[in-house]
Amino acid sequence: MSRASSIAYPNIALVKYWGKRDEALILPAAGSLSLTVDDLATITTVEVTDRPGEDIFLLNGRAASASATERTSAFLDVIRTQLGDDRAAVVSSTNAGPTGAGMASSASGFAALASAAAGAYGLSLDQRALSRLARRGSGSACRSVVGGLAVWHAGNELESFAEPVPGPDLRLVPVIVSGRPKAVSSRRAMRLSRDTSPFYPAWVSSTEETLRQMIDACAAGDIERIGQLTESHALRMHAVIASSTPPVRYLSPASLTVLDAVQELRAGGLTAWATADAGPNVCVLTTPGDAGQVAQAMAGLAVADPAEGAPGPVRILGPGPGAHLIPDPVELTRGAS
Ligand code: PMV
Repeated sequence: MSRASSIAYPNIALVKYWGKRDEALILPAAGSLSLTVDDLATITTVEVTDRPGEDIFLLNGRAASASATERTSAFLDVIRTQLGDDRAAVVSSTNAGPTGAGMASSASGFAALASAAAGAYGLSLDQRALSRLARRGSGSACRSVVGGLAVWHAGNELESFAEPVPGPDLRLVPVIVSGRPKAVSSRRAMRLSRDTSPFYPAWVSSTEETLRQMIDACAAGDIERIGQLTESHALRMHAVIASSTPPVRYLSPASLTVLDAVQELRAGGLTAWATADAGPNVCVLTTPGDAGQVAQAMAGLAVADPAEGAPGPVRILGPGPGAHLIPDPVELTRGAS
């Protein structure tokens, strides 16, 4: 038996990925760019058993749902097929942040799983190859293989990986307004946008343009420009999502309150720009110098109700490392089902 453990952190996209060109290979319709952060990590241990059979997946200490287990097994199959190895695995994964609530738990989750599973099955991969592999679990996971600012290239199977991009030192302040899992998965909502939104073609072409502008703004260290592009691109994504049939709306009244508060912070002279993924939670992009004041201003808007599953006080996130192997954190619960 062989086992390996990895840690990976979520990434928050400044230029969003929304829509696939190829669903099986998870190739995006356009490129995207994100910041991998230094908190809310996923830690995953993969233990390869000595025979074929059903995989076991423990999520946050409990047997995961059938659909989550199926998705994990499908991902492990990518590795097993490549190696011609049919042994089943026991996977144990713990998220420090809310799961499935639009705080990038699938990005950290599949990046940690890719790294730990590659280690446990004995597949030796460089960063690009590991990024490509993580992409097969969840598109945005390919960016969590890379630390700090990362660009994910659209393109064919071999070209579609994430790599680091130079940029300024940024901070993100997540404002958790709900820890509940989202009602519509991003996978399903992306498909609806692609198949039904009249805005979708413009979304794809404008995203390519925004990505070029963002890479330039990052290289120039122009934080105001990075912020403007980030906020307008996030709102554009939510407009495409809302324009699908049937419509999907991820932002809640509490999210809009945060967006208004961020605008007020800017009017007061702080660097603060908002973004939100496929869920109601908002992240505020700011500078190391303004982050303390931004976090203080946001403290009253975040939920602190443990029943919501939210992680309590407002944190300040900086750039974090890419997915990597770590020493085994805990003994796996053997035979748990
Ligand atoms: O990787 P997925 O399928 O969870 O898609 C995530 C998409 C967004 O988080 C909404 C945007 C992004 O680029 O991360």
